[in-house]
Parts: sequence; structure tokens; C-alpha cells
Amino acid sequence: MKVTAAITGVSHYVPDYILTNEILETMMDTNNEWIMARSGIAERRILKDKDKASAFMAAESAKKLLAKKNLSPLDIDLIIVATVTPDYQYPATANIVADMIGATNSWGFDVQAACSSFIYALNAATKFIETGAHKRVMVIGSDKMSSIVDYTDRTTSILFGDAAAAVLLEPTTDGTGILDSKMYVDGSGQKSLYQPAGGSLIPSSIESVTNKQHFVSMDGQAVFKIAVIKMADVAAEMMERNNLKAEDVAFLVPHQANKRIIDATAKRMQIGMDKVMMNIEKYGNTTSATLPLCLSEWESQLKKGDNLILTTFGAGYTWGGIYLKWSY
Ligand SMILES: CC(C)(COP(=O)(O)OP(=O)(O)OC[C@H]1O[C@@H](n2cnc3c(N)ncnc32)[C@H](O)[C@@H]1OP(=O)(O)O)[C@@H](O)C(=O)NCCC(=O)NCCS
Repeated sequence: MKVTAAITGVSHYVPDYILTNEILETMMDTNNEWIMARSGIAERRILKDKDKASAFMAAESAKKLLAKKNLSPLDIDLIIVATVTPDYQYPATANIVADMIGATNSWGFDVQAACSSFIYALNAATKFIETGAHKRVMVIGSDKMSSIVDYTDRTTSILFGDAAAAVLLEPTTDGTGILDSKMYVDGSGQKSLYQPAGGSLIPSSIESVTNKQHFVSMDGQAVFKIAVIKMADVAAEMMERNNLKAEDVAFLVPHQANKRIIDATAKRMQIGMDKVMMNIEKYGNTTSATLPLCLSEWESQLKKGDNLILTTFGAGYTWGGIYLKWSY
């Protein structure tokens, strides 16, 4: 029997503080109607604690997952953290998370592919399970987007929020689990959405701070135009490659960047919005956390054998799709 990687548990952590559109109206020249109509976002969570960041949120979601599965942190073989807002440039956030939760038998690393970080990390994690290298791999998406967002820029700050969510992968031979994946990258889009400074090309300096180069820089329209096509394309590709018709798909699990991009993807797949996991209204774009956060919030509605299509589009450009059969 073929060994596949099954998601056997999922959990999430969101900070308590809610930044509503109404609060944003008091901070900049924007309004609830514009934000709702253009993005579908009503509110987002913000991690206010100055001494806490992505590793903290990742560790909280991991601890909840271990408790739910009645597992010891010592049972985990590998932790992969998907993030664009690591606590530090180095060491990797995964190391810090392993230390925070006491996973001393685990090794770990981070994956950075902007809004596609989680799907890339999940795809990589399946290989450690399928080859038999590991029995339990935790994949965590965690981003403190509020740490790189300029709250005087109305074109970007309205979109993003903070969150983390974790999945556990284990081997199975029952025909469920991650069955197909396709990842893409197109580096020609690198400057449409990026964080200009803080890397080795433009190291941190007084000028880089003065010029606000450590914040998200985005050409929203350019990103929208390609995202709306590529996220739908890869979702359709997943269906075609696996002979899935609209009625075979239990849920689309799309990256939550803009409600209009999600609507277009569902339309292309010819599925109703009742089959789309969408919580963008409550959380905005939480970058690496969006997909597992959806899985965690919809967990109680899922049953073994359900066909799910996961899709993302992100900076870089990066995009990808995963087809899986839910395992429990
Ligand atoms: C950012 C985004 C919501 C903007 O929506 P849009 O329909 O493209 O809006 P535009 O950028 O064309 O702006 C239209 C007008 O609204 C204004 N505007 C921009 N942000 C605003 C805000 N928060 N409130 C009110 N008005 C705003 C603009 O200044 C512009 O005004 P103008 O016509 O007088 O110049 C949209 O482009 C988008 O979602 N892009 C993709 C983002 C994305 O997916 N990022 C993550 C990828 S993983």
C-alpha cells in the first residue's frame, strides 16, 4: 500500500485584540464601505504584546494541537514553520518554537514563500512522511503582519492581520491524505509585493528606516490581476489532474487575500460559495496562517474522505495547489 501524508490534527491561535474597519477610519483616510467592497475584510487580529511575535503564536497553536492529540512534544520529529515575519533573520523560528514547546527530539526549519509559505511547507513536509523518514511532522503557519505593516498607508494596512495555525502530519495507507500538489514560482513579480530593506541587498540603515523600506510595499492592482488568474488556474488544474468534478469537491480552501480573488476561483471551479472556506471578513490576510486557520475553523464540518483543494497566490510571485482527502 502506498504511504501518504495525512493531516491528523489541526489547531490555531489568534490574538485577542480586534482591529475593526471603524478603528482604521480613525487612523487614516479610509472607510468601512470601501474596505468591505474592495477586499471583504471587516476586522483583523493584532498581537499587541511588544515582547511576543510569530514564534509565540506558532508555539501557542502547537501546544493546543499537542493537547488535542494527547501527544508529548517529544513525539514530534520535525517542525516546519511557514512565515514571512520570523522573530529574527536567524535563528529560524522553528528552532524557537521547538524550544518553547519542549520538542527536544525534533529538528526544524522555516519556509518563506510569502502568502504561499504554508502550502510550500506542507508540500515539503509530505516528502518526509512519504519516504518514511519521519512519523510525525508539525507544519505551522504563523505571521505577525502588524510588525511589517505601515499604519499610515491605507493601501496595505487594511489588508493584513496576525495569526498562527498548526497541522500534524502522520503516515497513512488508507487512501486519504495529500494526494497531489503543484507549486509555481515566477520571480519576475518580485517587486510588485515585497519588503525592500532588511535583507543583504539593502541592509537596515537610518535611510532605510526613514524611507519606510521595512514595511510591505505593494502594487495592489498588479498583484490582483495575476492573483485572480493564477489562483483559479491552479485550482482548476488540481481538479483536472485528479478527474474531480465540482460535485466531487467538498471544500475549496483558498488563501485569504481578497474576497474577489476567492470568488473568482470558486466561479472557475463551478462550486457554490457554501463549499468555500472563507474567514477573511474576521481575520484579513494572515499570510502563512490563512490555510490552516481555515482548516481549524472548519474542522468540525469535515469528514473522512472529503476532497479538499488548497490554493494560494503570494508575493514572488509564488502560487500552488494541493489536493487532499481528509483523514478523520
Ligand atoms: C489592494 C486592493 C484591495 C485595492 O483594490 P483596488 O480595487 O485595486 O483599488 P485601487 O488600488 O485601484 O484604488 C482605487 C481607489 O481607492 C483608493 N484607496 C486605496 N486604498 C483605500 C482605502 N483603504 N480606503 C479608501 N480608498 C482607498 C485609491 O487611492 C484609489 O483612489 P483614486 O482612484 O482616487 O486613485 C486590491 O488591489 C487587491 O486586493 N490587490 C491584491 C492584494 C493581494 O492579494 N495581496 C496579497 C497577495 S498574497
